[in-house]
Amino acid sequence: MRPVTLRTARLELSLPRESDVAAIYEACQDADTQRYTTVPSPYEHRHAEEFVPRVAAQWDEGVHLTWAMRDGDTLAGMIGLYRLDGAGRGELGYWVSPWSRRRGFITEASRAVLDWGFAADGPDLERIEWYAVAGNTASARSARAVGFRYEGLLRAGIAGKNGREDAWLAALLRADERTPQLWPVLAD
Ligand SMILES: CC(C)(COP(=O)(O)OP(=O)(O)OC[C@H]1O[C@@H](n2cnc3c(N)ncnc32)[C@H](O)[C@@H]1OP(=O)(O)O)[C@@H](O)C(=O)NCCC(=O)NCCS
Repeated sequence: MRPVTLRTARLELSLPRESDVAAIYEACQDADTQRYTTVPSPYEHRHAEEFVPRVAAQWDEGVHLTWAMRDGDTLAGMIGLYRLDGAGRGELGYWVSPWSRRRGFITEASRAVLDWGFAADGPDLERIEWYAVAGNTASARSARAVGFRYEGLLRAGIAGKNGREDAWLAALLRADERTPQLWPVLAD
């Protein structure tokens, strides 16, 4: 698949590039990113160097599609559609750089990625899933804010750095209203 650039009011979403390596390395030192995502831990400089060409190769394969989120010249994070199954299903995943958090960036970027993921001239998905380690409230609130509906607890559903852990599953269908829904695992 050809990489596409997406634009929102404040962000550009585009292919990670070599000039991002220092910021990726810095951002991936964050404890929550290491705890809740699949980035290696400890995160070494070579991991960031290897990540950039790997993302480009993955776009070619069309199964894992990752964008760098750019706030001007600042690397605000990474977002992607993962494990596209070729039959209308994919998964949303993301991290925001510690210095760019709590500014609504993931909400803004997710909406653009979801619109493109569901579009007939994009991957034309019908269902986009979201998984998180149970208890990752910040990610759950981010998913809920863009319309994901909570579907349940997957016991020992995620393999991470702490072995298998319970996971929360939510999903958004192309036809769903994007209005935030009640999530039983979120208090407010
Ligand atoms: C989760 C994460 C992506 C949120 O990014 P962000 O840009 O700061 O989020 P936003 O500012 O767009 O806020 C989105 C929602 O999350 C909530 N939120 C964000 N950070 C939060 C926190 N630390 N605690 C509680 N809620 C939080 C916001 O209040 C907002 O919810 P609301 O609309 O109901 O008020 C970011 O904290 C992160 O990168 N965490 C580590 C990596 C990670 O967990 N990735 C997801 C793996 S499943």
